[in-house]
Amino acid sequence: MKIGIVTGGGDCPGLNAVIRAVAKTATKRGWETLGIIGGYEGLLAPQSYRLLDYKALDGLLVRGGTILGTANRGRFSAKTGHGETRQLPRELLDDTRRGMDQLGIEALVSVGGDGSLTIAQQMHEYGIPIVGVPKTIDNDLAATTTTFGFDSAVACATDALDRLHTTAESHNRVLVLEVMGRYAGWIAIYAGVAGGADVILIPEIPFHYESICGAVAEREKKGKRFTLVIAAEGAKPAGGDFVTAGAQQQNREARLGGIGAVVAEEIEKRTGKETRVVVLGHLQRGGSPTNMDRALCTLFGAKAVELIAEKNFGQMVAHTGKAVESVPLAEAIGQLRTVPLDGGYVHAARALGISLGD
Ligand code: F6P
Repeated sequence: MKIGIVTGGGDCPGLNAVIRAVAKTATKRGWETLGIIGGYEGLLAPQSYRLLDYKALDGLLVRGGTILGTANRGRFSAKTGHGETRQLPRELLDDTRRGMDQLGIEALVSVGGDGSLTIAQQMHEYGIPIVGVPKTIDNDLAATTTTFGFDSAVACATDALDRLHTTAESHNRVLVLEVMGRYAGWIAIYAGVAGGADVILIPEIPFHYESICGAVAEREKKGKRFTLVIAAEGAKPAGGDFVTAGAQQQNREARLGGIGAVVAEEIEKRTGKETRVVVLGHLQRGGSPTNMDRALCTLFGAKAVELIAEKNFGQMVAHTGKAVESVPLAEAIGQLRTVPLDGGYVHAARALGISLGD
């Protein structure tokens, strides 16, 4: 048996740990694993792969990024604008099948977020034997309680808040940290709670400047002369729209970014307090995965190979909260999982007096 593994969409910590787990589990069964270079596009280029034997896996558990490279644009884009779906042309799927046949690949593991898994579902419908592994720092896939990469991103954002805390306090400033997460506020609310933010802005709760500035004033009254604000990139004012970075490109998802600067400027204008903004950006996606992500990736990779062994294609490995199981890709894609307004994090934040901007 020869299988292929492909990593797609934005990179995140843990991709290499999944590659390692898949290849190790496959090798143990006596199978061969080919790592496809450069995302799905690599399936169309004859020499765009590397053999993942035991030697090739050295050091992968802790290494950030993906040794296979990735792509989130071009012919294999399935998402555009603010999450609209695009159908891949039939000829592209024909070419993909031909590419796999030429390499002798009998089944494919696709590691990616909603965009890459939407492509995987289209390939499955076409007849390509494929299984998915849910990756994204955004943690926004409905069919799994957690995606890998999220815990590492939260660790990075929490560390950033810890660092901003001391400088904000020293200068009596308001510090606004903008984090990623697209249309879900998971990174912002987890890191905000873990890092002791005073104001947490998430897309699920449209904010009011009066409320944010009220929280700053309230702290001043209590003698706290600094305030830490964490804003998800998808946060927006009540009645307002997302802030995007750059112009919309064809066959690509809209790039969010810039809300932190808008919020910081408004706070300074309204409160007169010196305010600074930090955009954490791709630091959240780089570096070594946390131990929790390493373990999750290993469980996910092993399960993906089991699904192939069972010929249980068109499935995505998923965490139920208790165990790693699988769900049909068709049920996993296109379902944005947002922060529940009646969930534990929102509840705890409010209980502590953290402002959510509403
Ligand atoms: O989906 C992961 C993510 O990091 C989002 O949080 C962010 O909006 C986007 O990708 C950034 O994409 P790019 O790497 O294209 O700037």
